[in-house]
Amino acid sequence: MNEQSFAVRRGLAVGQVDVWLAASDEISADDLRSYERLMSPDEHARWTRFVVPKPRLQHLVARALLRRTLSRYAEVAPRQWQFDANTYGRPHIAGPTPACDLRFNISHTDGLVAVAVAKGLEIGVDVENVARSLDVLQLAPSVFAPAEVAALELAAERDRADVFFSFWTLKEAYIKARGMGLSLKLDGFAFDLSGTHPRISFNDRCPDDPSRWQFRRYLPTATHALAVAVSAPENAIDVRLIWVVPDAQPDASP
Ligand SMILES: CC(C)(COP(=O)(O)OP(=O)(O)OC[C@H]1O[C@@H](n2cnc3c(N)ncnc32)[C@H](O)[C@@H]1OP(=O)(O)O)[C@@H](O)C(=O)NCCC(=O)NCCS
Repeated sequence: MNEQSFAVRRGLAVGQVDVWLAASDEISADDLRSYERLMSPDEHARWTRFVVPKPRLQHLVARALLRRTLSRYAEVAPRQWQFDANTYGRPHIAGPTPACDLRFNISHTDGLVAVAVAKGLEIGVDVENVARSLDVLQLAPSVFAPAEVAALELAAERDRADVFFSFWTLKEAYIKARGMGLSLKLDGFAFDLSGTHPRISFNDRCPDDPSRWQFRRYLPTATHALAVAVSAPENAIDVRLIWVVPDAQPDASP
C-alpha cells in the first residue's frame, strides 16, 4: 500500500478537499489503545457499545483520524474538539470555534476509514469494500434510479461491479453531503458516468440544482471504491487523497 505520513499543514484553500485515509486493519495494537484516550467520555461510552469487532475497530480509527485530521488545520488539540449532530445524525464541529469554517464527513468500511475535510463547502464521502460478492443486477432496482439500473444492465459483465460501486458510492456521497440520510429518495437523482467526472441529475422526488455539485470517484486500493461529493462550482475543486496512520499521541500539539 502507498502509505505516506504527511507533515502537518494548516492551509486549506477554497475548493480544496483533503481526504485522509487509514487502513484500519494495519494499525498496531499499541496505537489502537492510545486512540481510546483521544475520545471524549461520551464518545468512549458510545464506542464501548459496539460489540462486533470490525465496526468497533472502524469506529475507533475514525474517531482518532477525525480528531487528528481536524487539528492539522486549526490550533486545537485533538482531544479538545467537540461535536454535535443534526437531526439526521450528521456530525459537525460544535467547538472550539476554529478560525476557518472547517467541514468534514466520515466513512468507514471493512479495511478502510476516510475523513474528508473542506472549508465552507458541503462535503460527503463514501467508501465501500468491493470484494463483497453481491448480485448487483438484483439489488440495483431497490437502490438506484431507473437510468442507473439501465446503465448497469448495459455494462459489460466484467465492468458491472465497478459500475455498481461507482453509483453506490456516488449516491451515498451525495446523500451524506446533504446530511439528510435516507429522507432523500434514492430514485430522485441519477448519475451519468460517461464524462471525465460523474454528473448528477434530479427529478421532482429530489429537487436540487445539478450545477452546484461536483463529484469525484477513486479506487484507493484494489478492494475499495471511494466517492466524494462537494457543493462547489464546476472545475473549482481540488481533491487530494492522503494515506496516514493517525498519530497516536493524544496530547501532542496539533
Ligand atoms: C447514515 C448514513 C450516512 C450511513 O452511511 P453508511 O454508508 O452506512 O456508513 P458510512 O461509513 O459511509 O458513514 C457513516 C458516518 O457518516 C456520518 N453520518 C451519520 N449520519 C449522517 C448523515 N445523516 N449525513 C452525513 N453523514 C452522516 C457519521 O460520521 C458516520 O460515522 P460514525 O457513526 O462513525 O461517526 C446513510 O447514508 C445511510 O443510512 N445510508 C443507507 C445505505 C443505503 O441503503 N445506501 C443505498 C445505496 S445508494
